[in-house]
Amino acid sequence: MLTFDLDDKARLSLERLLPRLQPILAGADDPDGFIRRLHQHFPRLFGLLHDLYGDQYDFFYHLEEILRTAAQSYAERSAELHALDQRREADHLWFQREQMVGGVCYVDLFAKTLAGLRKHIPYFCELGLTYLHLMPLFKAPEGNNDGGYAVSSYREVDPRLGTMAELSKVAAELRHNGISLVVDFVFNHTSDEHEWARKAIEGDAKYEQFYFMFDDRTVPDEYQRTLREIFPEHRRGNFTFREDIGKWVWTTFHSFQWDLNYANPDVFNAMLGEMLTLANNGVEVLRLDAVAFIWKQMGTSCESLPQVHAIIQAYNALARIAAPAMIFKSEAIVHPADVGSYVKWEECPIGYNPTLMALGWEALATREVKLLLKSMQNWFHIPADCAWVNYVRSHDDIGWTFADEDAQQLWINGYDHRQFLNQFYTGKFSGSFARGLPFNYNPANHDMRISGSAASLAGLEWALETKNERLIDHAIRRIVLLYGLALSAGGIPLIYLGDELGTLNDYSYQDDPAKAEDSRWVHRPVFDWRRAGRRSNAKTLEGRIFQTMTHLIQTRKTTPAFANGHTEFFESGNPHVLAYTRGGEVLALVNFSEQPQTLYAGAIVHHWRLTAPVKDISRPTGGIFTPGETYTLEPLQFVWLEKG
Ligand code: GLC
Ligand code: GLC
Repeated sequence: MLTFDLDDKARLSLERLLPRLQPILAGADDPDGFIRRLHQHFPRLFGLLHDLYGDQYDFFYHLEEILRTAAQSYAERSAELHALDQRREADHLWFQREQMVGGVCYVDLFAKTLAGLRKHIPYFCELGLTYLHLMPLFKAPEGNNDGGYAVSSYREVDPRLGTMAELSKVAAELRHNGISLVVDFVFNHTSDEHEWARKAIEGDAKYEQFYFMFDDRTVPDEYQRTLREIFPEHRRGNFTFREDIGKWVWTTFHSFQWDLNYANPDVFNAMLGEMLTLANNGVEVLRLDAVAFIWKQMGTSCESLPQVHAIIQAYNALARIAAPAMIFKSEAIVHPADVGSYVKWEECPIGYNPTLMALGWEALATREVKLLLKSMQNWFHIPADCAWVNYVRSHDDIGWTFADEDAQQLWINGYDHRQFLNQFYTGKFSGSFARGLPFNYNPANHDMRISGSAASLAGLEWALETKNERLIDHAIRRIVLLYGLALSAGGIPLIYLGDELGTLNDYSYQDDPAKAEDSRWVHRPVFDWRRAGRRSNAKTLEGRIFQTMTHLIQTRKTTPAFANGHTEFFESGNPHVLAYTRGGEVLALVNFSEQPQTLYAGAIVHHWRLTAPVKDISRPTGGIFTPGETYTLEPLQFVWLEKG
């Protein structure tokens, strides 16, 4: 009997496909490069696409279309990017270096336009950045467009910011300055003004199939029973009724963000084309937005389903073939176990670490490190060929995404603890230093998240009003402490630009009708270049923060132990102090309380011979010393002790 297993099928279909791809590749400057990579990644790609779309009667037609898209964009890729592809293949763990330091900003808020941004490249270099995430900058609807996360065209830059040609130029110029361009791939949804959505509205059957559209509530009601609501303040439920067409459309986020239907292979292929176009414009890291939501299945939460992983892995395999210099970063702000499930070499080699981010703030509020420590011990570990992106603040809200199971083991009730953290960070808890705002309070379960700038959440806004020097100092220490953690925990540290100057909340969004309903705008102010001008004066607030941060950044960049590698979090013997070692060479100690804290050598010697001389590399005045029986940390101080 003749049986074909998947490998045979893959081999045979590759044999059939190759001659059909040759004419497309004829125009490429290195056609063999594509063929070589295709041979290498095809078996895996075939398996993934077969799992996703193998039951479609015209599966092989779709397969061919998908590979044509990849070949076409490979043929259009520039010589400079082909050269980068080769360098990155030879050095595929480039993103793990201690020299990696990321920054993120909005083009319009930072520099008005892409042309303006180019003039600020020296500022990025001064900070030591090697990675720059430009927030969504594509064409989007007027008025509320969720900060650009409702994309109307992936091939057109928002005309107020510039053009696609300018974006390519920015990418190249950044690269020549040692900085990789990062942009979003908002692939869970398009805006309702995207050409595909417009055609669907006109009744074009092909494009109706690109989205989830229903004639009545029967099916939506079935789905809704098991769905979480993301923006309950704006609209209850996850579907939007469109009067103009009399249909319900699946909209996980806002009503104008239409979820794409990846069960349709045409959607997969169309978005592949958009993705590879971004790669060909010089994007080196693609931030996969809202990854968890891209596959729906009735009766489930429709988050992080197995097909989500298959889709990302298939895209990854196609990027390895057609644009291997580009890597993916996951944005999954979910349960820690699910966050980690996306971070794999063959899926997203790098991923946001929301668990460390949220629990850093949690530890500042409780002044205790037990939940942070347990969570890091349970969830920090990822495969050796990957890296976390460690951040303190982003353009989004803070959600308390720790695992309830971890909390329970420490006798902490997860629900109550989140209520406490929300009270604390909105300044309602007595004695709180924070000035945050609620984000998307859900009356059904009293859930909410927190908006606010790093400085305002860390107490700087309040401290400046009191004019109390000690409180101002504490606030600065909290900002620097969290950044110290991000810079040293292992992975790529990511600076939300403005934090290096202690940028406070900006309440002016409340006067703009397109923004007033979304408190995240409180921490998305126009970058204040007047304040930035004070950064070289160490006597100013800006100078104090900026200079401390740049010292830490430079230290990270010159300390090999801070390259990606083994991090061990362990019990310091003091409930207020987090302790971890980096590759056995550096010991980091972080005091989350406003009181001095003493550590006893015994607790630490076990993990690290703190009896030998060490060098305090966290401060310019650090010096070499031999610690005694005890070691005392100042209020909110952290140290990096390197073996001498
Ligand atoms: C991501 C973005 C967020 C946006 C959402 C919908 O989570 O970070 O700002 O609202 O996706 O695209
Ligand atoms: C949810 C989503 C996350 C998004 C956020 C925006 O938490 O999981 O992807 O960034 O909402 O507020």
